[in-house]
Parts: sequence; structure tokens; C-alpha cells
Amino acid sequence: MEFYQFLYFLFCLSGQLLLNLSFSTTQLCRPIQSDALLQFNDSLTVETDTDSDCDPKMTTWKNSLDCCSWDDVTCDNVTGNIIGLDLLYSCLQGTLRSNSSLFALRHLQSLNLAFNNFCTSPILPELSVSNFSSLVSIEISYLSKLILLYLSFNDNFHFAPVSFPKSNWSKSLQSLTLSSTRILGKIPDSIGELKNLKTLELDYCQLIGSVPSSLVNLTKLTRELDLSKNKISGQIPRRFWNIEKGTLESLDISSNLIEGVMIFLVTLLRESYNNFPGKILFLATDNGFSGEIPSSVCKLSSLVGLYLDHNNLFGSIPQCLGNLTNLSYLDLSANKFEGTLPQSLDSCALLHTLNVSHNKINDTFPKWVSPLIANATGLDVLDLSNNSLMGTLPECLLRFGKYLSILNLRMNMIQGVIPRKFAEDNKLRTIDFSRNQFEGTLPQSLLHCENLEVLDLSNNRIEDTFPDWLGTLPKLQVLVLRSNMFHGFVSSPKEARSISELRILDLSNNNLSGPLSIRYIMKLTAMMNQDKRWGKLQYMGDRFYQDSVIVTMKGLEIRCNHFGGELPKDIGNLKSLKGLNFSHNNLTGYIPLSIGNLIELEWLDLSSNNFTERIPQELADLTSFAFLNLSENRLIKPIPQGGQFNKFKSESFAENPGLCGFPLLETCTNNS
Ligand SMILES: *[C@@H]1O[C@H](CO)[C@@H](O)[C@H](O)[C@H]1NC(C)=O
Ligand SMILES: *[C@@H]1O[C@H](CO)[C@@H](O)[C@H](O)[C@H]1NC(C)=O
Ligand SMILES: *[C@@H]1O[C@H](CO)[C@@H](O)[C@H](O)[C@H]1NC(C)=O
Ligand SMILES: *[C@@H]1O[C@H](CO)[C@@H](O)[C@H](O)[C@H]1NC(C)=O
Ligand SMILES: *[C@@H]1O[C@H](CO)[C@@H](O)[C@H](O)[C@H]1NC(C)=O
Ligand SMILES: *[C@@H]1O[C@H](CO)[C@@H](O)[C@H](O)[C@H]1NC(C)=O
Ligand SMILES: *[C@@H]1O[C@H](CO)[C@@H](O)[C@H](O)[C@H]1NC(C)=O
Ligand SMILES: *[C@@H]1O[C@H](CO)[C@@H](O)[C@H](O)[C@H]1NC(C)=O
Ligand SMILES: *[C@@H]1O[C@H](CO)[C@@H](O)[C@H](O)[C@H]1NC(C)=O
Ligand SMILES: *[C@@H]1O[C@H](CO)[C@@H](O)[C@H](O)[C@H]1NC(C)=O
Ligand SMILES: *[C@@H]1O[C@H](CO)[C@@H](O)[C@H](O)[C@H]1NC(C)=O
Ligand SMILES: *[C@@H]1O[C@H](CO)[C@@H](O)[C@H](O)[C@H]1NC(C)=O
Repeated sequence: MEFYQFLYFLFCLSGQLLLNLSFSTTQLCRPIQSDALLQFNDSLTVETDTDSDCDPKMTTWKNSLDCCSWDDVTCDNVTGNIIGLDLLYSCLQGTLRSNSSLFALRHLQSLNLAFNNFCTSPILPELSVSNFSSLVSIEISYLSKLILLYLSFNDNFHFAPVSFPKSNWSKSLQSLTLSSTRILGKIPDSIGELKNLKTLELDYCQLIGSVPSSLVNLTKLTRELDLSKNKISGQIPRRFWNIEKGTLESLDISSNLIEGVMIFLVTLLRESYNNFPGKILFLATDNGFSGEIPSSVCKLSSLVGLYLDHNNLFGSIPQCLGNLTNLSYLDLSANKFEGTLPQSLDSCALLHTLNVSHNKINDTFPKWVSPLIANATGLDVLDLSNNSLMGTLPECLLRFGKYLSILNLRMNMIQGVIPRKFAEDNKLRTIDFSRNQFEGTLPQSLLHCENLEVLDLSNNRIEDTFPDWLGTLPKLQVLVLRSNMFHGFVSSPKEARSISELRILDLSNNNLSGPLSIRYIMKLTAMMNQDKRWGKLQYMGDRFYQDSVIVTMKGLEIRCNHFGGELPKDIGNLKSLKGLNFSHNNLTGYIPLSIGNLIELEWLDLSSNNFTERIPQELADLTSFAFLNLSENRLIKPIPQGGQFNKFKSESFAENPGLCGFPLLETCTNNS
């Protein structure tokens, strides 16, 4: 090989090497953009507390030089520009200022900052134009390629009052989600310029004023329009619905102050959704809609969900609703409907939720509800509570119902016995038959309800011995038998795990007697354990429906019975109890000192018993106390001094011979 050839060879080789080398080390990511990202990250702090499950993935960014390989960052695979940043739920906290380096990422197409704790600096007051009180700062509009923008759930996002960034986004933006941010003011007309929007979510903000008619220009909205939970008022503009022949799949205007008569609304819906082949969800919950539902609603054949609850609707429910064979969710609750429940509903075999509660339905309990329960395999929630349903329940109501999980018939005028046959392997989670006129005994087949969490039979005329066998239902958490005619002893459960999940047990106003079984109390293990999940206010049920029983606390009530004997000291083990009411019984002996162990206790009522001797000093030290009633006993020692006594919201020691007098509180009644 000649020297030059050799050199040339070397040159090629090294060139090749260099080339290879540079390929392997060149970051796809552009340094200027990765710097912008890091600067953006540096301008914020990461807040992780034990309560939240957020995940600060930015902390791993430093592990690699190529920002395109960072978690949550997406680059264009050809140009290397950052086109996506997904910092959803990333524990970020801080202020998004107009000089933020984030706005330098001009190629961003998708920006998701939802579920963080950003706030914006209150700037640019001089630009207060239309009071969408708009987006962050005008700078976000420099991101003119944005297709998706999610800023929801940033509680402190007070948008600075600038005009709505329109022209830069009108060609690109397809999805705008600002749910649960504090956008103030009116939706500006300029929203109509975001012509490519497919999804617009402005729920849970602080929007006022009327729905802008310019929405009619958002002809591409095909998936979702959510304006719910604001203070939007007035009527729906006539042309609002004129959305490219009804391609919008979900329209939610719930929880606003929107008015108008239902016939107008239905006409508009029909005009835009006529012959629409898809499936529509329409939510107008909690507004000021009035009038009757016109039967033309039955021609909206693509309706899958119809939520008209919490309005001022009246008249009868259209009989033709059964024509909507695809209907899965029907909520007409909290209106003023009267008359009958349309029988045709039994052909809605896809029903998932049927809620007609809180109306004035004055029919005999319809027999067709049994085929519905048997045949609608998806039926999960059936709520007919708070009406005036009469007559008896069909014998086979629940005999074939394997799918239903919530059955609420509370507050009607239903008579007769509870249907004897519950289907085997049923999915019932909640049964609420309270405040009716049921009589007779409890059917043993309730034991088929192995998923039962809540059983409320209060305020009926059920006459039976104490149903200790219910204790074997493995998931039972709430058992309310208050104000019936249960009698006899509360025997201790035989099965090892029975009643262990009970959080609320209310046996008040019955004819139960005998001593309080220590073994019974020792099985109430759920009342002993302080678990976080149950600490806060929460509902049972799912997001479509909240069970009528609101479980806010753990409580044990046996007031107004004939329990006798001493209060077992083991009561002090029920450490997570919030409430304990043993009043109006015949309990004797000392109030056990162990009651001072009930550190979560907020109310304690031992009044109208036969307790003697002293009030334990330990009671005075319970800091969570609000209500204490020890009146009408035979307590004789002086009231302990100091501690929390006199700081409670209410306390009574009246009618104890050895203590000074206080006014009387409660007496036993049958409808409390
Ligand atoms: C991003 O910021 C957080 C806290 O502000 C920090 O812990 C983390 O190291 C930063 N990430 C990078 C790659 O600098
Ligand atoms: C770049 O990404 C697009 C969209 O994700 C994909 O269709 C395309 O095949 C990718 N190109 C290369 C060269 O990886
Ligand atoms: C951005 O502005 C804030 C105050 O408005 C200032 O404190 C900060 O230094 C600025 N940051 C940059 C990178 O210029
Ligand atoms: C915009 O909102 C601010 C504060 O909410 C208010 O003071 C101002 O009058 C509003 N401006 C317009 C044009 O509505
Ligand atoms: C659009 O973005 C450019 C920068 O890309 C900016 O200078 C301009 O002010 C923006 N226009 C609007 C209306 O926000
Ligand atoms: C819809 O857009 C057109 C053209 O941009 C405009 O002239 C019209 O005023 C808009 N309609 C409404 C109701 O804002
Ligand atoms: C119900 O939905 C199916 C599937 O989307 C559709 O084919 C059918 O036409 C719908 N029925 C009615 C009455 O619209
Ligand atoms: C409901 O369907 C029946 C049978 O298909 C039809 O005769 C009736 O006109 C429909 N009712 C309405 C209000 O559309
Ligand atoms: C239901 O109430 C309406 C209005 O009060 C009354 O006209 C109707 O007779 C009642 N129906 C029944 C079955 O009681
Ligand atoms: C279920 O529906 C079919 C027809 O729709 C009916 O024949 C049958 O009786 C129903 N089942 C029950 C248990 O009512
Ligand atoms: C308390 O006990 C006495 C005697 O043991 C009894 O006469 C009285 O009825 C009891 N009081 C109550 C309220 O049970
Ligand atoms: C209360 O219990 C005592 C004995 O402990 C009994 O003499 C009395 O009759 C009982 N009172 C009531 C009202 O049950």
C-alpha cells in the first residue's frame, strides 16, 4: 500500500470512526431544549407528602444526557424537537411565570401539567379584556403547535386576566382541558376560534355568564364538551347545538344555573342528533330546567345516558322511554314527577342505572321491575327511594336478580313482607328498605347476599328475634335495624369472622334485652382498628351513584331497648368509634374507666340508665368530644373538674340524684 493510500485509508477509517462515534454520542435531544426543560424544572419544587401518590419523574432526568429518553418527554423522532411533555401528577409546585423557559419549547404539541400545584402570578391586569381571565399568561399561546393542553386540577391556577389566546391555536389545538382550575369570568366569544377542538373540558372552574353562541363554530367537537360545575346562567343559545349534525358524544352542562323548558332542550337535541348513529351521553343535572319531558325525547335513539336529575321537571315520565333501547343510564331523580313509572322501561335491557328517587311517583310498586331486574344483565343501581310507591313488593322481585348491586326503596309506603327469595350468587351491596311499612320476619335467604355491605331496614314494622345470623355476611359494614320490633337477646355470633367488618351498628328503638355480650363486642374488630380509609367523609358506592347511607363515622347505637347488666370494660377496645349511644336502657354499675381509651369518640350518650357512682376523670380528657350526655342515671360523685369538660358543644348531667340538675334531653320515640 502506498503511503497516500494508507493515509487515505486511515482517514476513511477515522472518519468512519468519528462518524460512528458522533452517532453514538450525539444526543437526539437539542441542548437548548433540554436546558429549557431543566431550567423549568429548577424553577419549581417537588412536594411529596405521604398522603399523595404523585410521582416526581423529573428526578430521574439527570440519569441520561438525551432528554428524548427522559420519562414524560416525547421528541419528534426525525427532528429531535421536544413535542410532548407529560407531567401529570408529578408533585410539582411553584409559579408558572411569563418568563418560564417552558414557553421556549415552541414545538410542543402536547402539554399535560394536570394534578400538580401550580399557581400563576397575578400579572398583566391591563389586558383584562374578556375575563375568561385567561390562560396562565399570554406566553402559553406562543406554543403555537399545541394540539393537547391539560392543566386541570391545579387548584391555585388563578389565570391572569388576558385575552384568550386564539390565533396561534386556532389551527392546532384539538383538546383543551382546564377542569378544576380557577378560571374566573365569562367564556369569551373568541373560544369559537379554536375551530379544531374535539374536546373541551372547562368543568369545575368559576365560569359565569351565559354560554357563548360562538360555540356553534366548534364544528369539530366530536368527543366531549364539559361545562359542568360552574355558575353559567341563562338559556342555552338556540344555535349552540348546531354541531355538525350531532357528532358530540358527551355533552355535560350539569351543576350550573341554566334555565329553560325541557321541550326546547329536547327539540334542540333532536335537531342536532337526528339519525346520529353513535352513542350520546347528555347530562343536564342540577340546573333550573322546568316543564314536562316531551315524548319526542324517545326519538333520540342514540341516547345512552340521560341525566336530568335535580331540576324542576314535573308531569309524568314519558311512557315511551322504553323505545330508547340503548339507554344505560337514566337519572330523573330530585324533580317533581308524579304518576307511574313507565312500564316500557322493562325493555331497556342495557340499563345500568335507573334512578327516579326523590320524586312524587304515586303508583303501586310495579311488577315489571322484577323482569327488569332479572333481564337487564347490566343493571347495577335501582333507586326508587323517596316517592310514594304503595302496595307490596312482587314475591319474585329479587329471585332472579344476579346483577343488581344497589337497591334503594327507602321512604315509600310499601307494605307486606320482604320478598322471601334472594337469588343465589347475587351481587347486592346495598339494600335500603328503610322508612316503609314492611312487616313480618327477615328472610333467611338474605344470607345469599354475600357481597352485602349496607343493610338498612330502619323504621319499619319488622317483628323478629335479633338476626344474629346476619353477622355471617362477610362484607357487612353497616347494619341499621333501628325502630322496628326486634326482640330477645343479642346472642354472641358463632362464626369466627362474623360482624368483624361492621362499622355502624344501630339497634335503637327495638325491644332487645339481656346483658351486653362481651363476646359480641370483642368481635367488632372493625370498630377497634383505626384505618385511614374510613377516617374521612366518604361515600360507599361508585362514581355513578352514591349510596344513601353516608358513612361518615363508626358508631354503635343501641338506644331505647331493654339491655341490662353492666357495661363491659372491653368497650374500651372499640378505639375507632366516633359515636356511642346506649341511652334509655337499663345498664347498671360503674361507667368503666376504659371508656377513656375511646380517643376518637365525638359523642357519647349513656343517659337514662342506671349507672352509679362516679363519672370517670378519663372522660374529661377526651379531646375529640363534642357531645356528652350522662343525664338520668344514679351518678352520685362530683363532676370531675378541669380537662375538656365545659369545652364540649353540649354536655348534660341532669337528673342524677347526687349531681346538680340540668335540663332533660332525649326521650324514646318510635319515629326518631
Ligand atoms: C428537578 O427538580 C427537583 C426538585 O426541584 C430536583 O430534585 C431534581 O433533581 C431536578 N431534576 C433535575 C434533572 O435536575
Ligand atoms: C416516528 O414516529 C412516527 C409516529 O410515532 C412513526 O409513525 C414513525 O414510523 C417514526 N419514524 C421513525 C423513523 O422512527
Ligand atoms: C422570571 O421572573 C421572576 C419575577 O418576575 C424573576 O424573579 C426571575 O428571576 C425570572 N427568571 C428568569 C429566568 O428570568
Ligand atoms: C374581570 O374580572 C375582574 C375580577 O374578577 C373584575 O374586577 C372585572 O370587572 C372583570 N372585567 C370584565 C371586563 O368583566
Ligand atoms: C403567537 O406566537 C408568537 C410567537 O410564536 C407571539 O409572538 C404572538 O404574540 C402570539 N400571538 C398571540 C395572539 O398570542
Ligand atoms: C362563526 O365564525 C364565523 C367565521 O369565522 C363568524 O363570522 C361568526 O360570527 C361566528 N359565529 C359566532 C356565533 O360567533
Ligand atoms: C343501539 O346501538 C347500536 C350499536 O351502536 C346501534 O346499532 C343501534 O342502532 C342502536 N339502537 C338504536 C335504537 O339506536
Ligand atoms: C315507540 O316505539 C313504538 C314501536 O316501535 C312506536 O310505535 C312509537 O311511535 C314510538 N314512540 C315514540 C314516542 O317514538
Ligand atoms: C297520583 O297523584 C296525582 C296527582 O296528585 C293524582 O291525580 C293521582 O290520582 C294519583 N294516583 C294514584 C294512583 O294515587
Ligand atoms: C325476560 O325477558 C323475556 C323477553 O324479553 C321474557 O320473556 C322473560 O319473561 C323475562 N324474564 C323474566 C324473569 O321475567
Ligand atoms: C334502675 O334500677 C332500679 C332498681 O334496680 C329499678 O327499679 C329501675 O327501674 C331502674 N331504672 C331504669 C331506668 O331502668
Ligand atoms: C332494670 O334492671 C333491674 C335489675 O337489674 C330490674 O329490677 C328492673 O326491672 C329493670 N328495669 C327495666 C325497666 O327493665
